[in-house]
Amino acid sequence: MAKQDISPYKPHEAIILDRIQEAPNLFTLQLKFTDPKIQDAYEFEPGQFNMLYLYGVGEIAISIVSDPVDSNIIDHTIRVVGRVTRGMDNLKTGDRIGLRGPYGRGWPMIESKQKDVIVVTGGLGCAPVVSVINYIEQRREEFGRLNIVQGVKHTADFIWKDRYDRWHEMPNTKVLLAADVGEAMWPWHVGPVTTLFDQLEFDPDNVSVMMCGPEGMMRVVCDHMLDNRVPASQLFLSMERNMQCAVGHCGHCQYGSKFICKDGPVFSYEKVRNLFETKGF
Ligand SMILES: Cc1cc2nc3c(=O)[nH]c(=O)nc-3n(C[C@H](O)[C@H](O)[C@H](O)COP(=O)(O)OP(=O)(O)OC[C@H]3O[C@@H](n4cnc5c(N)ncnc54)[C@H](O)[C@@H]3O)c2cc1C
Ligand code: FES
Repeated sequence: MAKQDISPYKPHEAIILDRIQEAPNLFTLQLKFTDPKIQDAYEFEPGQFNMLYLYGVGEIAISIVSDPVDSNIIDHTIRVVGRVTRGMDNLKTGDRIGLRGPYGRGWPMIESKQKDVIVVTGGLGCAPVVSVINYIEQRREEFGRLNIVQGVKHTADFIWKDRYDRWHEMPNTKVLLAADVGEAMWPWHVGPVTTLFDQLEFDPDNVSVMMCGPEGMMRVVCDHMLDNRVPASQLFLSMERNMQCAVGHCGHCQYGSKFICKDGPVFSYEKVRNLFETKGF
C-alpha cells in the first residue's frame, strides 16, 4: 500500500463509477474508494495490480490501466474467463466491490524517459501494457520513438480498433498488428508477430522493450531483441500466475526464489533469464 496506515491485507469498499463494455467478453470498471481518506492516500505505478473482491465469490488480481496522475479514478479492464470474472461481469454502475492494493513492481517508466520504447503484446492479455501506452500518451515528448506491436491468433481476437487508431495518430509512434490466421477483410499483417520486427524503429543502445502475453511469445521476442544487440537489462516482462495473498506470504505465485506478486509482475529479463528459459517453471 502507498501509505503506512492502510493494511495490505484488508479490502476496502470501492464504488463502480462507470462500466464500459469493450468487447463481448471484456469490460472496464472505473472504481473509486468510498472512503475519501483511502482514495487520497492511494498511489500506484503503471504495471502494478490490485486485488478485486467480489463479495461472497472471491478475489482476483487485475492490472491497473488508468494514469497514476489521475488519483480520482482507478480503471481495470477485465476479461471474463471463470467464476469471479463472470460474477463481476454482472456488476453495474453504483455497485460496490472490495479493493486492496496496489501490489508488485511496475514498468520502468522513469528509467525509460528519453529512450525509444517497444511495447509487444500477444494473445488476449494486453491490459498490463495498456498502462504503458496511456502513460506515454500523456507525456509524449518525454520519450523517444514508440513502437506498439500486437499479435493475435485470430483476427476476431483483435479488440480496441479505435484505441489502436488513436495511438497510430500519436507523434513518433508506429503501430504494427499481426494475426496468425487472417480473414478476408483483415487489413494488417498475417503471420507471426515476429515477422514485423524488421519494421521496428529503435536504437538498441537506448531502448526499453516491455512485453506481456504468452510466455512462448515473450521468449521469441527476447531472443530476437538479444540478437539485435538490445541488452538483457533493457527487456521487461509482465508475468502472470494464480494469486492469493499478493504480498509474498502464501507461495501461490512462487517463481523460483521469487514471488510474482512481490518481486514482479514486471521483471527485467536479466533477473529471471535462467528461470524464463526453463520451460514449465
Ligand atoms: C498480476 C496479474 C495481473 C492480471 N491482470 C489482469 C487484467 O488486467 N485483466 C484480466 O482480465 N485478467 C488479469 N489477470 C488474470 C486474472 O487474475 C484471472 O483471469 C482471474 O483470476 C480469473 O478468475 P476467475 O475466477 O474468473 O477464473 P477461474 O475460475 O479462477 O479460472 C478460469 C481459468 O483461468 C485460469 N486462470 C485463472 N487465473 C489465472 C492466472 N492468474 N494466470 C493464468 N491462468 C489463470 C484458470 O486456471 C482457469 O483455466 C491478471 C493476473 C495477474 C496475476
Ligand atoms: S500470491 Fe501469495 S505469495 Fe504471491
